[in-house]
Amino acid sequence: MAERLIVTLDGPAGVGKTTLARRVADKLGVAYLDTGAMFRATAWKLGEGAWDLDEAELARRMEGFVFSIAGVGGATVLSLDGEPVPGDIRTETVGMWASNIATIGAVRAFQKRAQQAIGHASSLVAEGRDMGTVVFPEATCKLFLDARPEVRARRRFMQLKSLGQPCPPLEIIEAQIRARDHQDRSRAEAPLRPADDAVIVDTSDLDVDQVFERLIMEVARLAR
Ligand code: C5P
Repeated sequence: MAERLIVTLDGPAGVGKTTLARRVADKLGVAYLDTGAMFRATAWKLGEGAWDLDEAELARRMEGFVFSIAGVGGATVLSLDGEPVPGDIRTETVGMWASNIATIGAVRAFQKRAQQAIGHASSLVAEGRDMGTVVFPEATCKLFLDARPEVRARRRFMQLKSLGQPCPPLEIIEAQIRARDHQDRSRAEAPLRPADDAVIVDTSDLDVDQVFERLIMEVARLAR
């Protein structure tokens, strides 16, 4: 097999990682790994309040969980136990459940193993919080997206509206995003932060095409 290419794309909630990771994966013709969806699907399957269980019990419940991917680019399908992960995991509430279990060592250890096993088998654009720092520290292309919280809240608000989904007021979305950021950045294990060798792109004042062009340019430079 030709040498694997791993591109890591980390950043806070609502920064546009998913849209951009899909587009970059399409352009490179490699699979796309949405590790946020892995945390969300795990939290969803474990159920509300799982974060209060003791770690040994959590580890036991996750033992049989098997994640896999199929396909390529933005069309890559992530499955848990052979079933594509459901759209229901995409709410801000399940995002907070995911963030709650993501502070727990046993959960992070399980996720890291599952993510590395997938990365071992194929080239990837891997999106998350700790892809460049913890899961794929050897990746040659490490990208980190950031944007001001109010900009991220507005983008999420517009996205929910355009999807016709129930949409809380903008101030509530901003408060939820700030709370999740705080929990993700301040946790002891694998906190959200750029790797020392990551390229940081502030997307606050760029549109999605401009960010995409910049990321493709950086990948071409770093992968040379
Ligand atoms: O990216 P997304 O919003 O789907 O992630 C949901 C939550 O999962 C994040 O807020 C974070 O707490 C957790 N997560 C993580 N490490 C990752 C990906 C997601 O801790 N690599």
